[in-house]
Amino acid sequence: MTDTSSRAPIAFLDLRPQRARIEAALRARLDKILESCQFVLGPDVVELEARLAAFCGARHCVAVSSGTDALQIALMADNIGRGDAVFIPAFTYTATAEVATVLGATPVFVDIEPATFQIDIANLRARIIEVRDAGKLRPRAIMGVDLFGQPADWPAINALATEFGLVTIDDAAQSFGASLHGKMLGGMAHATATSFFPSKPLGAYGDGGALFTDDDARAALFRSLRSHGEGAQRYEVLRTGMNGRLDTIQAAVLLCKLDVFADDLAARAAIADLYDRRLAGAVQIPARVPNSTSAWAIYSILLPDQPTRDRLAAALRADGVPSAIYYPKPLHHQPAYAALHDGAALPVSETIGGRILALPLYPDLPHADAERICDAVLANL
Ligand SMILES: Cc1ncc(COP(=O)(O)O)c(C=O)c1O
Repeated sequence: MTDTSSRAPIAFLDLRPQRARIEAALRARLDKILESCQFVLGPDVVELEARLAAFCGARHCVAVSSGTDALQIALMADNIGRGDAVFIPAFTYTATAEVATVLGATPVFVDIEPATFQIDIANLRARIIEVRDAGKLRPRAIMGVDLFGQPADWPAINALATEFGLVTIDDAAQSFGASLHGKMLGGMAHATATSFFPSKPLGAYGDGGALFTDDDARAALFRSLRSHGEGAQRYEVLRTGMNGRLDTIQAAVLLCKLDVFADDLAARAAIADLYDRRLAGAVQIPARVPNSTSAWAIYSILLPDQPTRDRLAAALRADGVPSAIYYPKPLHHQPAYAALHDGAALPVSETIGGRILALPLYPDLPHADAERICDAVLANL
C-alpha cells in the first residue's frame, strides 16, 4: 500500500497545461479577431463549421451557442412540442430532458443498461409501445445520449425509429470524437448535438455547441433557428427561433484545440486504459461498447453499494484525490421532472446514482497521478 496522504492534492480537471500547448496559436487568432471586430459568427466560425463537419464526416455543421441550444434547435426543427413524447434516458444531464420540456413536449424516461451506462434498447422499445398504446401522447423522437463519451447503440435506436416513425437526435454533448463501427459520431441520427462547455473533450473557453446533419433541409432550418428564425434576407423573420449563435472568440479557441484534438483523445484513452488495467477486478469498470472508440469525457466506476461509494469518496478526498458523482439522481426523481413522469419503474437508473463515482480524467493528467489515484482507490476499498 502506498502512503498518499502527504502529497499535493490532485485536480479533478486542470486546463492549464492544454492552454500552454495552444497558447501561441490562440493569441495570434485572438489578435486577428480584435483587429476585425467581427465578434459573432465571424470567419473563424465559418472555418470551424467546415473543419468540424470534415472531422466527423457529416454533410453539415451548424455552430451554436451551447449544447443545450443545439438540442433545443434540433427539436424545434422537427416542430416537436405540446402533445409529443420524446424518449430520453433517465440517467443523463438535465439538459437532455429540459429542452423537450421547455418546448411543451413530454420527456418519457427510459432505463439504462448497467454495464455501459447507455440507453437500454429493450426498455426503449417497451416504453415506445406503452406510450403509443396509451394514446395520450404522440411518440415523436428518441434523444439518445452517448453517456460519458461512449456511443449509445445507434443501429438499434435507428431500427426502432424506423419501425415506429420517430425522429432521432443524438445528444453527443459528451462524445464528440467518439466512433461506432468505424464511423465518427455526427452522422448516426437525423441530428447530432454536441457541447463545447470547457470541460468537454473538445471544450471552448465559454459556452458553445454544434449541430450536425446529413440532411440539407434540416441544416437550413438549424441556421435559421439559431438566428431568430431569419430568412435569406436580414430582418426577414420566417419562424420563431432563438438567439443561438456562436461567438467568434469561442470558434478561435475551438480551432486551436482541434489541432491537438487527436492527441487529446489518445491521451484520454491511455488514461482510461490505465484505470481499466489497475482497477479491473477490484471495482466495476465501465464496460466498453463493442466496435467503438470513446471520447472519455468521464470515467466512472461502480461500487457495490452507496455506503461503500461514500466511504471511498471521503477517503479519496482525505488523500487529496478528488472524485465526482454523475449523477446522484435519475431525472424522473428530480423535482423538475417528477410530475411529468408516468410512474414506470426504471430500476437501473434508480439505483446507479448511489454506486457511481467518476475519477479525474483529462488529457494532461500525469500518469503518475493516475497511478496514485488507483493506489488510493485500491487502498480504500
Ligand atoms: C449529456 C449532456 N447533454 C447536454 C449538455 C448541455 O451542454 P451545454 O452545457 O453546452 O449547454 C451537457 C453538458 O453538460 C451534457 O452533459
